[in-house]
Amino acid sequence: MVKRKKMKSRSPDPARRSTTHGQHRAVLLDEAKAILAPRPGQVVVDCTIGWAGHALELLDCLGPSGRLIGIDLDMEALEKARARLATVGNRFSLRQGNFAGLTQILAAEGVTQVDAILADLGMSSMQLDDPERGFSYMRDGPLDMRMDRSRGRTAAQYLATIGVGELCRVLKVYADEPEAEQIARAILSARAAGPLERTGELVQVIRAATSAGKEMWRLHPARDQWNIHPAARAFQALRIAVNRELANLEQLLRILPQHLTPGGAAAIISFHSGEDRLVKAAFRSGVRVGIYDQASTQAVRAGTEERTANPRARSAKLRWAKRA
Ligand SMILES: C[S@@+](CC[C@H](N)C(=O)[O-])C[C@H]1O[C@@H](n2cnc3c(N)ncnc32)[C@H](O)[C@@H]1O
Repeated sequence: MVKRKKMKSRSPDPARRSTTHGQHRAVLLDEAKAILAPRPGQVVVDCTIGWAGHALELLDCLGPSGRLIGIDLDMEALEKARARLATVGNRFSLRQGNFAGLTQILAAEGVTQVDAILADLGMSSMQLDDPERGFSYMRDGPLDMRMDRSRGRTAAQYLATIGVGELCRVLKVYADEPEAEQIARAILSARAAGPLERTGELVQVIRAATSAGKEMWRLHPARDQWNIHPAARAFQALRIAVNRELANLEQLLRILPQHLTPGGAAAIISFHSGEDRLVKAAFRSGVRVGIYDQASTQAVRAGTEERTANPRARSAKLRWAKRA
């Protein structure tokens, strides 16, 4: 039997760990702000504005003469962010788009270089909470998973044509799924019986295929522990594949230095070892070739209090670099 990782939790009270439905709690907020050090009059880009948790704080520091440019693939997130940022009243503009196209987005804003750039990767709690988005293995909904619902293939369309070898690779590489082969084979045989179109159907297939899935899954099996849901890794892998998250990050890392003013700072918050490896390698090689004059040697992690209050913070790693 494959042993599943048990994660330690510091709080026995589930209510303390949740984020209010339909909202998103920004992770490593103070740390990101301290690194980016936004000052009045500066221009800052938030590449992943989400619910504007980071952006609100940054915008507040920029004062009426500064400017924040916010980007998100998700049109719905942008609308919510716009409403929140309007409460600060300073100057901001929001663009629907992919941070991989940062060069074009900044050109459209009439800007080439900025003082600070933040990217807080992955999905938001708002996206996860909405069953219609298809990100959740806890709530049944259409198997969509696209951050930008106006284009691209849904997870259902992706699963309809993928081969078993490629699916197995995606599960292993994007989520370290120990039962990748069993899950990939089970998905392909379920697909032969009819298309997989609902998250609930996919969860059932994964549970039937995996050793932990056959057991009764509980979030809090013991007072100080919680189990990873049997479908959690597969859902993460599919989301990363559907949204081409690693390719987008690689492109952002390539173009990032050219958009920072000398002394300008970049901070990237990642939630998965594959992402963190890319960020670490890009910042280190940037220092080696002199594009950056400083970069984090260790990833900045959330403190105990934040990890207790917000489960997302447990896997968050922030890395930063400063433009030479
Ligand atoms: C973790 S959330 C950001 C939360 C935000 N920092 C806050 O405090 O509310 C990540 C956001 O990035 C967006 N996103 C993911 N990949 C993106 C990409 N390649 N380009 C632009 N936005 C992206 C998602 O749609 C999501 O809204």
